[in-house]
Amino acid sequence: MEIIIQPTAETATNVAARIIAHLLREKPDAVLGLATGSTPLLLYRQLIAMKLDWRKVTTFNLDEYVGLASTHPQSYHGFMWENLFQHVNISKRNVNIPDGLTKDVPKFCAKYEKQICAAGGIDLQVLGIGTDGHIGFNEPTSSLASRTRIKTLTPQTRKDNARFFGSEAQVPHHCITMGIGTIMEARQNLLLAFGKNKARAIAEAVEGPVTAMNPASVLQQHPHVTVCLDEAAASELKLTQYYHWVYDNKPAWQQL
Ligand code: GLP
Repeated sequence: MEIIIQPTAETATNVAARIIAHLLREKPDAVLGLATGSTPLLLYRQLIAMKLDWRKVTTFNLDEYVGLASTHPQSYHGFMWENLFQHVNISKRNVNIPDGLTKDVPKFCAKYEKQICAAGGIDLQVLGIGTDGHIGFNEPTSSLASRTRIKTLTPQTRKDNARFFGSEAQVPHHCITMGIGTIMEARQNLLLAFGKNKARAIAEAVEGPVTAMNPASVLQQHPHVTVCLDEAAASELKLTQYYHWVYDNKPAWQQL
């Protein structure tokens, strides 16, 4: 894992944006896995400002709430179009987001997995992290080998996400999410976390044991993970000075 700690969310996001920009310039038909939530908002803003060419890019989103139409303002469809897709030259047919209204969830999920494979697999997956360590919507105790499927949100996650809905009662109980096994097959994972409320989840994920109680900890077993943090999210890490030294002394050939 490469742990990059920056003074602010803005500067940490800038590192992540440069990694994605580099990929899209090297591989114009890259397959990106994308995330929602407040964490990647800055990233999407920076990517839009970079005026990259998205014509040949294919995207797969991590998750969607079950029961929300794509036109619902809090759906992840709505989020992605509002905050990224409508501002770049991506082709609508290359955008893939789980269908929260599918009548046959298992069939839809199996098809989503097949579509990822048919696209050549995900080159780079953007991840946020829940306060309980979830990635996508893979809540604690999710199978570390899980594939795209239905999941039930924990009370903590519904509470955390209530701010987007007005009240907790309006937050759906179910979602469709890529599995942890699906995420682990991405060729690179780029995890972003900002703020003090993510510090414990990050410390457990990066320096704790690999456990389904903190699903993000499984990323320790992935060969190419970059974690971009602000100082607050990094505040419970033990090897902070080491991570800083590593980043500040990267050999030139390793830098972007
Ligand atoms: C949400 C999403 C995750 C996201 C996480 C953190 O529920 N399903 O993909 O990473 O929770 O959200 P936020 O970035 O708003 O803190």
